[in-house]
Amino acid sequence: MAVGKKSWAAALFTAGAVAALAVGAAMLWNAGRGTVPSVRLRPDDAAVTALGQKVYAAQCAACHGARLEGQPNWRARGPDGRLPAPPHDASGHTWHHPDELLFRITKLGLAKAANLASFGSSMPAYEGVLTDAEILAVLSWIKAQWPPSIRAKHDEMNRSSSPQR
Ligand code: HEC
Repeated sequence: MAVGKKSWAAALFTAGAVAALAVGAAMLWNAGRGTVPSVRLRPDDAAVTALGQKVYAAQCAACHGARLEGQPNWRARGPDGRLPAPPHDASGHTWHHPDELLFRITKLGLAKAANLASFGSSMPAYEGVLTDAEILAVLSWIKAQWPPSIRAKHDEMNRSSSPQR
């Protein structure tokens, strides 16, 4: 069967389009695998914390408390074996974790952030709900609420923590 110039061109075009689609699909697939960019919270950036405050009120306050106070008896597991939501203020342990881990917990949920197959936790994963910028903003706002001494300790921990990947 003779193949005319035109159909070769069409075939090449099709191959190109298929390749482009494959690249696009691979990118989407990677994006969907919960990759986490290198992050640094920005508690001193007013535009970032203003967005973060809104995100917190809409997405986090119901469990972690409007004043970051957490749920009552947050250290004791409930009848379902799950822990209540801890406070995000200085009395909790959020500030014991470096930026990148906080980001991973919020984006991926505790199980994936800790590389566990499953982990009975009521903490939702926000991947697909919040953008990376919104997650960074809400965590930056939380950090902005900590007293200066706690913020300084957290800065120090970020400096000494090795990359989490
Ligand atoms: C449905 C309730 C719920 C909502 C909504 C929720 N969380 Fe949580 N979160 C939890 C619970 C429960 C835990 C503790 C989970 C565990 O240890 O099993 C937790 C834990 C965390 C931790 C780890 C804290 C630590 O000290 O280890 C971070 C960080 C966190 N949440 C951030 C957020 C952010 C940011 C939002 C809003 C974008 C949010 N959470 C919304 C329930 C919730």
